[in-house]
Amino acid sequence: AAEIFAHQALTGKHVLITAGPTREDIDPVRYITNHSSGKMGFSLAEAAAEAGAQVTLVCGPVHLPTPDRVKRVDVTSARDMLAACEAAMPCDVLIAAAAVADYRPEVSAAQKMKKDPNSADGMTLKLIRNPDILATIANRNDRPFSVGFAAETENLLAYATAKLRDKNLDLIVANDVANAAIGFNSDDNAITIIDRQQQQTSFPQTSKGKIARQLIDFIATHINKV
Ligand code: CTP
Ligand code: CA
Repeated sequence: AAEIFAHQALTGKHVLITAGPTREDIDPVRYITNHSSGKMGFSLAEAAAEAGAQVTLVCGPVHLPTPDRVKRVDVTSARDMLAACEAAMPCDVLIAAAAVADYRPEVSAAQKMKKDPNSADGMTLKLIRNPDILATIANRNDRPFSVGFAAETENLLAYATAKLRDKNLDLIVANDVANAAIGFNSDDNAITIIDRQQQQTSFPQTSKGKIARQLIDFIATHINKV
């Protein structure tokens, strides 16, 4: 029937989404990571697929089912996540919802690190910077319409606006992670979207599924404007 082919907001678009935390090994039994359930990114993947997009979801370690009609790529570290995103290019839209570890241990020990039984000293772990996945993709010649999230505990709109500019984004979604009601493991979210003209659009607290549909609709309207 004709309805099956009805034009939807994101028909014909490839949408790449990052989700969940990354995990950076210290040794075979220990790692550093970030708080992230992956719920927001998975809800966005579901909403984008419902809007007719071809969706690639690159995700760190999460315990969530893959939404229908979504191509899922599981990764562990930030470097793996960047490589998977580069392999998924080109895309029309990138939505970076992952909580990427900003640093990783300079060396990941091949064997479990042991305490010195003759010493009560602490230990120092040297960390080095991870690549910025969003900024890397948003600065390519074939850059997609690029959407970031800014998770902040203070100065939300100022920091979010700085990230939009510094990473060369089209939109940034500001997220107040100090508010427990809409934080990491919550089923709810509330967002303010900021565009390149510093125009702000806010969506009040509701389920991550509803926020995802609102954000996907907003993106679909915006990509057709630029
Ligand atoms: N991001 C990314 N790769 C990184 C770090 C962040 O792709 N190595 C993306 C996140 O997915 C998010 C946006 O960049 O969409 C902002 O992440 P955030 O952690 O808020 O900002 P940072 O640039 O890492 O700055 P800081 O943590 O110092 O506030
Ligand atoms: Ca960060």
